Amino acid sequence: MLVDEPNPRPTVLFAAGEAFPFAKTGGLGDVVGALPKALAERGARPVVFLPAYREIRRCGLPIVDVGVEFTVPIGGKQVAGGLLRGKLPDSNIDVYFVRQDDYYDRPGIYGEKNVAYADNCERYVFLCRAVMESIRLLGLEIDVLHAHDWHAGLLPALHKIEYRDRPSYERITNVFTVHNLQYQGEFWHWDMLLTGLDWRYFNWRQMEAFGKLNLLKTGLAFADAISTVSHTYALEIQTPDFGYGLDGMLRYRSDVLGGIVNGIDDTIWNPTTDVLLPKNYSSATVAEGKAASKEAVQKQTGLVRDAAAPLAAFIGRLVEQKGVDLILEVLDEWIVDSDMQWAFLAGDGEPALLQKVERAAAAHPDRVAVVKGYSEPMAHLLTAGADILLMPSRFEPCGLNQLYALKYGTVPVVHAVGGLADTVVNTSAATLADGTATGFTFGDGGAHRLGESLALACELYRGRPEVWAALRRNGMEQDWSWSRSADEYLELYRQAFYLAHRQATVDA
Ligand code: ADP
Ligand code: GLC
Repeated sequence: MLVDEPNPRPTVLFAAGEAFPFAKTGGLGDVVGALPKALAERGARPVVFLPAYREIRRCGLPIVDVGVEFTVPIGGKQVAGGLLRGKLPDSNIDVYFVRQDDYYDRPGIYGEKNVAYADNCERYVFLCRAVMESIRLLGLEIDVLHAHDWHAGLLPALHKIEYRDRPSYERITNVFTVHNLQYQGEFWHWDMLLTGLDWRYFNWRQMEAFGKLNLLKTGLAFADAISTVSHTYALEIQTPDFGYGLDGMLRYRSDVLGGIVNGIDDTIWNPTTDVLLPKNYSSATVAEGKAASKEAVQKQTGLVRDAAAPLAAFIGRLVEQKGVDLILEVLDEWIVDSDMQWAFLAGDGEPALLQKVERAAAAHPDRVAVVKGYSEPMAHLLTAGADILLMPSRFEPCGLNQLYALKYGTVPVVHAVGGLADTVVNTSAATLADGTATGFTFGDGGAHRLGESLALACELYRGRPEVWAALRRNGMEQDWSWSRSADEYLELYRQAFYLAHRQATVDA
């Protein structure tokens, strides 16, 4: 069936490596768990596809076997799989889990003990092939195939090369979203055989980069439209400093590339209703509310019980991207003659960085705390209990923690890159006067610049409580819910439709 107009209520298939609450290692999971709900509220019909990791059984939500089985070609073999189904919580949105126990029934999602699974190419090629087959097997009438990050990077290629002209697939346009350009799904060239696509696609404009198969580049090459998760990052990744070797490709595709800032799911991240806090609060009761959470953090982590000491938090993956080493440099300098407290919630990451954080905590247990591993309750408690959230990221495509911090009246101190630059307004006489100041942003210059911004924040925290209260209030009153960005995605889907048709005309 040929269609001339984009469907105003599109059926959108999300394919990704993770989605909260089923499986999550970072912000990608938050986005894939929340954006479909916001789209559904606007009349779109989303459906989500994920691998059936062992992890998905941990969240305790009902999951049923759909009774659909299939085989897909992977290299020279036929690999069998099946489909399970659940729902995104508080919604009627179907989540299909692609079942293939050899690939996905493992302790980790992408790997274990900070080492990626050696067969990740095969695992995610299988995911993409399974998704394409499922569309037909389930009779889904998909308008938009929305692939996220390298795990789903093969989807746009499969769509364009193998499926576009088949019945059930003709109305599809595809959109590819880059959440983090550092992770590209690079594999040795022989893994091209796993994809089942012809070697002629293994060239520098399509699937090859620096001699390797590159699944993120594949997504960029075959997408009808490309988005990333903030405006600034969309520009940054077209430069060598942020492009991780793909800036040329991104410049080449810049006519279809744009940025949409992430939102937050305020049914989960909301201090007025958050069940993980000792006391709920709004902007009217922020002082008491945050004090209760701060006390709980200090109690649970062994920090000295001091309501007045400024508490700075870091929440995230311990990787170079996040600039934890810069925090440690400032901490080392400050620890002697300031009452500042530091709390780290450290999920996945580099063992060497974790060791450094642990060493600081062991040396000053009353002033430095580290909570290791992934803890949803601690992430919420710390976001509420801290006075300051530190995000000195070297690059940050969007960042969700600073958005949670704003919502919880925790003042972010951030490096002005990517989504951090787009979402935090630096405090100055002018921004205080017009009521837009929400935090502190600093430019390039490493730990020194972070230290300067943090010093200014502490000065206001201690000496100008009325200014500090205004900063909190400004942040809390902002609306970073998905409603704004969901409209932008609907517009992106519309544009993708026209871009695809323009392309189809050129092809013809
Ligand atoms: P990224 O996706 O690069 O890791 P984001 O700021 O976009 O960064 O998202 C991070 C998400 O992961 C947030 O929801 C944050 O609360 C969560 N998170 C990170 N580390 C942990 C942890 N150790 N425990 C619980 N949640 C964590
Ligand atoms: C990535 C980025 C982060 C972004 C998240 C969700 O993991 O590192 O900045 O917020 O994806 O888009």
